[in-house]
This record gives sequence, C-alpha cells and structure tokens, in this order.
Amino acid sequence: MPDDAWSVRGVPDPAVLRLALDGLGATPKTLPPQLFYDEEGCRLFYAITALPEYYLTRTEGALLREIAPRAADWLQPGATLVEYGASHEAKAKLLLAGRSAGRATFETYVAIDVARAALSEMGARLRQEFPQLRFIPIEADFEQPLLLPPDLPAAAKLGFFPGSTIGNLDPVGRRRFLAQARETLGHDAAFLLGADLRKPESVLIPAYDDAAGVTAAFNRNLLVRLNREANAEFDPDSFDHRAIWNAAEGRIEMHLVSRHAQTVRVGSAHVSFAAGETIHTENSYKFTPDDIAGLAADAGWRLQDSWTDAEARFGLFLLKAI
Ligand code: AVJ
Repeated sequence: MPDDAWSVRGVPDPAVLRLALDGLGATPKTLPPQLFYDEEGCRLFYAITALPEYYLTRTEGALLREIAPRAADWLQPGATLVEYGASHEAKAKLLLAGRSAGRATFETYVAIDVARAALSEMGARLRQEFPQLRFIPIEADFEQPLLLPPDLPAAAKLGFFPGSTIGNLDPVGRRRFLAQARETLGHDAAFLLGADLRKPESVLIPAYDDAAGVTAAFNRNLLVRLNREANAEFDPDSFDHRAIWNAAEGRIEMHLVSRHAQTVRVGSAHVSFAAGETIHTENSYKFTPDDIAGLAADAGWRLQDSWTDAEARFGLFLLKAI
C-alpha cells in the first residue's frame, strides 16, 4: 500500500526529469521556478514571506485588507474567484469573507496551482472556515491554457494573481498569461493583480538574499528535489545561492553557482559545470504602474484602479476585460 507521506513528497517523475534536462541542457543553464514548490519548497516559501527583508507579502496583505471590502462593487454577488498560483488561501480569504445584501460576494473559489498537497490542505481548512463555499482545486501550471468547469454560476469571474508571481514571467510570457486569463474568465471579468514595484537595489537584494539564509535554502532545495524526483546526484552544498539585480531587464535573478568544476548525473544524463558556472533558477521582474497599464492593454484588459502603500513598494491593480 502506498505510504501517504511518500506520495506527498513526490516520487521519481518523468515530467520533472524532462523539465530538469531541458533546462540543464540549455546554454546558459536554467531550471523553471515552478520546480521550487515541492512540499519542502512550499514550506520554505511560506517562511520567506515572514522574513523582515521580504516586504512583498506583508505590504500586499495590508493593501488587500484595505481594499477587499470593495470587491462587492466590482462584481455581482455570487461571483467566482479564480486564483492563479494559489498555494495558500491566506490572501483569498480576505476576498472570500466579503458579503453584500446578505449574500457572499464569492460563492465559488477556483484555486490553480502545481502543488497538489498544498491544494488539498487548503481544501481542508476552507471547509472548516467557509462551509458554504464551493472550492474547486485544479492541479495545473497556470501558464497553460485552461477551461473552467462548465457548471459555474453565470455571475462574473474575478481573476486573482497576487504576490507578484507575474514577475516570474518574461514580457512575452506575461502578456500571453493575461490574454489567456481573459479568454478563460470571459468578457465581463475583472482581474486583481499584485505586482512588486521598481525600487533601489539596496532594498531588493536583501529581499532575495536574507540574513537567515532561508532564500538560499529555498533555492538549493531545487537540487534536493531533483535528487529525489529526477534520479539526480547533486551535492546541494557545492552550489552557492546568488541574487543579482539585472538593471537592463528590470529583474532580480536568482542563480545557483557551482563552487568548482563538477559533473552531476541527472537521470541517465551527465551534466558538467565549470567552476563558477550558474543555473539561472528564477526571474522576479519589478514594475512601474505604467508597465502594468501597458501590459493590461496589450492583453485585452484595461486598468480600472490601482493602490500602493505609502512607500510605493507594492501595487494592486484592478483590470476590467475589454
Ligand atoms: C512567489 C514568485 C512572487 O519572486 O518574490 C521569493 C518567489 N523567490 N524569494 C518572488 C521568491 C525568492 C516569489 N514569487
């Protein structure tokens, strides 16, 4: 009989091996950030969100608490909330708690994420806290095109993409993502997007290279995961964590830097690293409000409203389908 703990942690998986070999076979070497989020990766990411240097989650949470009561003005009651990259319900709950005219603003919550275990834990907690809510978890990569279940209520949908996860996508990818979401959600949809704003490197770098080393552990956990799920033989301690600001591209990059020349078996392949060679594991683009307005217009949305904190660190942007 399969052991639950084992299946949650992930077994060798040809899809993971394929993603790993595609990225590690490229020049320069890359690994896609969705591979961060195995069980341990989700746990480490959650720890990152509480770090003093990682202002993003805290700042967005405060903004969201402020504006969530207005969601009833954006949509008819009985609407559907569709969250992309939803590994925890903490942010969605602020919207799900909303009511108007004695009715829940949202009666259905669709959560899309690659982390299956995180989705089922969300389901268990939501059943307790929102027994009336219809919860529809979908295990999928949010970059793939998606059809919603056909029996959703006719009321409009609110797409929700918080956390500046949009910053993981390059300019082509994020335009494609928002255009796809417009197709999925329909002509009367709205979309609430959280985006981290451009700011000095002196604030950005510590957010991605914290003093306690949690982000470094999160980055190296990719290699631990490949050892388990892609039959690889990485020594994670032979790679350094590095976060850099790429000014030309407007993004923070995370890398794993090989401390010395080495050859590592991955599945049945062998991957060679020069001393100092890096695996590029993540981009986190940073935006201006104008960037977001332009992006929205290119993808079938218009910017209707936006909110930032007093220090303009983080922005929430409300888009309406056009
Ligand atoms: C979840 C993609 C928004 O880019 O800030 C945190 C992931 N990486 N620390 C981000 C992350 C390093 C995070 N996102």
